[in-house]
Amino acid sequence: MAQTPYSYPFIYDIAFRWRDYENACDFLTQAAAEAGLSKIDSMIELGCGPGQYCREFSRRGAVGVGLDLQPEMITYGNQLETQSPTGCVFLERDMRMFELEEPVDLAVCMMATICLMLTNEDMIQHLREVHRAVKPGGVYILEMGHPRDVFNAGESQQTEWEMEAEGLSVKVQWNTDSSFDPLTQITTGVTRYTVTGPNLSEILESPVQERAIGWGLFQALVAAAGGWEIAGAYGTISTSQPFDNSKDSWRMIPVLRRL
Ligand SMILES: C[S@@+](CC[C@H](N)C(=O)[O-])C[C@H]1O[C@@H](n2cnc3c(N)ncnc32)[C@H](O)[C@@H]1O
Repeated sequence: MAQTPYSYPFIYDIAFRWRDYENACDFLTQAAAEAGLSKIDSMIELGCGPGQYCREFSRRGAVGVGLDLQPEMITYGNQLETQSPTGCVFLERDMRMFELEEPVDLAVCMMATICLMLTNEDMIQHLREVHRAVKPGGVYILEMGHPRDVFNAGESQQTEWEMEAEGLSVKVQWNTDSSFDPLTQITTGVTRYTVTGPNLSEILESPVQERAIGWGLFQALVAAAGGWEIAGAYGTISTSQPFDNSKDSWRMIPVLRRL
């Protein structure tokens, strides 16, 4: 498999430590409750990467499942489970085509992972697959960039930042040097991790493609997939911030309820 930004799970895990995962899991729990799902006994994190959400839900007593296509991420999640077990299970699968033994109460797809669905067909197939994996009345929460970033109508998300942890400094340039195809709505660029440590200086570079998904396209794809209703939408990791065009609303976080 070609290198991707997800071929380096440990580095990815450091790079995204600006996110407070415990707080984010509190938010997901509250957002699900507002959509009518008051108890989460089981959940799946789609495109789980290091599995911070599914491991935290497992820690809280739910059956947590992490699903990812990248074998390195699955190995890393299993290593974390060996070091500090939570009971979370990791599956190496494509989120466009998977089956669970038991449907779950909650599915989540965070950090714009859904933008890796590059075509309408992939997105619809994915939404239908998640529909089969979630119980009736269950909830699917997705996190994407705000449309102002998608349509270049302002800038609220950073594409370059630096994190320090585990004795390493990781500078991230996400989807940089990119070109945008307005017909497919796909951005093609490079993601670069510059990693420095006591005896280390390394640049890890991989190609990346992401689809720019605005609110209108998202609504249309949900309708085309069928079986879901949009129960709400938030603009950041807080149920007190609705999805709108204010400065504090910097993400697009729809909550789907399975019909
Ligand atoms: C942006 S990371 C998100 C990781 C984690 N959920 C988070 O919020 O930080 C996207 C993850 O999706 C995975 N991925 C990409 N395409 C996928 C697919 N078709 N099926 C399953 N996982 C996929 C990547 O390997 C990567 O680990």
